[in-house]
Amino acid sequence: MRMRIVLLGAAVVVVAVAAAFALDVIRPGAATPAQVVAARQAAMFSNAGLFGDIKAKAAAGSIKGIAVNARALMVIGAAVPTLLTDRYMDAYPPGYKFFFKGGPIADIEDKAQGFINAAEALAVAADKGDTASIDGLSNALFASCGMCHASYRGAM
Ligand code: HEC
Repeated sequence: MRMRIVLLGAAVVVVAVAAAFALDVIRPGAATPAQVVAARQAAMFSNAGLFGDIKAKAAAGSIKGIAVNARALMVIGAAVPTLLTDRYMDAYPPGYKFFFKGGPIADIEDKAQGFINAAEALAVAADKGDTASIDGLSNALFASCGMCHASYRGAM
């Protein structure tokens, strides 16, 4: 019985996530504010996880394996500006720290392109097994996260 309750809980969570994270986020005007905010938060949690995994692979000497993380980050970087066209402040819980401040899309795209370029440079170095460059390139990639956050990520 207890097992059944646990499974039911898991099913409810899956349904809730599927409803929030809809393909509509890539269709202009089709998604609800909550869906857009859920998608950009998922993108950012992926950024953090993929980046942490890059550092772990570097520490373990798995240099070529870093390329897959870097390319996933490139794809996220290309998608993120489409999720940053509206602030949707009402879609956050009250007092939420990491909201989107809003800003000119051309500059947001510039920051995203800087991030993509940094991730691509890292992917190319990883493909070559260029161990000596990995630390510098991953620091540059992390700095490109900060370039966007400094202008566009809120902190209350
Ligand atoms: C082009 C701009 C941009 C880039 C590049 C970017 N971010 Fe973000 N990030 C944002 C914005 C905007 C938010 C706030 C999003 C929201 O909550 O709606 C954010 C939020 C976050 C959050 C907080 C999520 C939450 O809700 O608690 C984390 C963690 C994060 N970013 C990590 C990263 C990491 C790590 C990188 C680089 C590997 C990165 N980001 C690159 C714009 C960017």
